[in-house]
Amino acid sequence: MKTATMALLFVAATASAHVAPLESFETKPILADLKDLRALNIPVLAKDERIEVGYAIVTPLMQQRIQERAHQVGKCGGFEDLSQDVMLHSNGFDKMLQSLADIQEKNELYERAPFKILSLTKDAKIEAALTEVSESNLRSYVTWLSSFPNRNNRDPQPNRHVDEMKQRLEAMLGNATIPYEISVISHTSTKQNTIRVRLPGSERPNEIVVLGGHLDSINQSWGGDKAAPGADDNASGSANLIEALRILMNKEQPKRTVEIFWYAGEESGLLGSAEVAKQYKAEKKDVVAVLQLDMTLFPGSGELVIGSMTDFTSAWLRDYLKAMNETYLHARVVDDKCGYGCSDHASWNRQGYPALMPFEATFRNSNQNIHTAKDVISPASNFKHSAVYTKIALVMAMDLANSQARQPY
Ligand code: BES
Ligand code: ZN
Repeated sequence: MKTATMALLFVAATASAHVAPLESFETKPILADLKDLRALNIPVLAKDERIEVGYAIVTPLMQQRIQERAHQVGKCGGFEDLSQDVMLHSNGFDKMLQSLADIQEKNELYERAPFKILSLTKDAKIEAALTEVSESNLRSYVTWLSSFPNRNNRDPQPNRHVDEMKQRLEAMLGNATIPYEISVISHTSTKQNTIRVRLPGSERPNEIVVLGGHLDSINQSWGGDKAAPGADDNASGSANLIEALRILMNKEQPKRTVEIFWYAGEESGLLGSAEVAKQYKAEKKDVVAVLQLDMTLFPGSGELVIGSMTDFTSAWLRDYLKAMNETYLHARVVDDKCGYGCSDHASWNRQGYPALMPFEATFRNSNQNIHTAKDVISPASNFKHSAVYTKIALVMAMDLANSQARQPY
């Protein structure tokens, strides 16, 4: 069995060597950790020391080296592919790095500011809503979503689960007692669609609180079972959002608009969210906050230990998470980093919008079975842990979306 695989690999390698040497394949523009680029002697074309990010044009061999290095230090992708990046194409890399540095500067300004969010006022209605979160509902949503062979945007049928999701949401929203709009958003970078449920604000509808997660899944393992159940990555975050919506649809209409997104094609480079965020920016939409839920089911750092990613997120919202934790969640929040734009929050943050990414654990302690056929519900799956992330979404929809709070500059 092993010999057969080896022989196959050898044939594949020889075949590609006849076609073209690896180095001559197409190059890609990327953003990567400055330290990784330097360690690998890859020419850095632009950089920002403060955010430790470098821009480079890399060959497939270089990409492979970055990935290998990233895997050694426990990162997943290692770099961010900018081939599709609209900002890069329209502005060039200097401007793009500048906008990343601007975001960093806003955060630093906030960190130095004398006024910080320290606490939230406890609200009985919010407390009551949090008790409605059902672990068994979460389990059944994750079971359903992870039963598709895959939810990959490159599958010949990339919208099977999207269409079914829309039907289920419509059926559920049939019992809603507040106004809502459900839309299917198509994209130019992928055939897969994004779903958006909008709960229009009663007082300040132009101010938007975004709650989102990616609905797609991928299998990146070599050979073997190519199923991509994506239970943790990211049926879990998607389920958290369905459950939040189920509870919100029978509460008071929020004063600000709440928009819930299930994004397309995240696993192929944040495709859906990049288009949406760019469009919102072009239309000058006032997005007050963006919550990203991606992987919430595996309590790798302990039950009720939440990793709060500090890169591509807003210092204000990270403080807001800590304050809501004190008042409502009673979990433990630990700061950590992905080290690259690891999920859809990065798409929004790149457009200048404040984002938050509470994650299942620290980066290192996160689920190692993602992107394989083994990302299924298992004894390690913890729905009590996952329920906390629905609560985070609920507090953002019921506290932040009913307040005047926004990122102070
Ligand atoms: N959920 C992952 C991101 C992740 C993985 C965060 C492990 C923290 C720990 C996400 O779906 C993903 O796989 N992202 C890609 C990057 C994207 C730009 C294609 C990745 O990490 O490789
Ligand atoms: Zn993933």
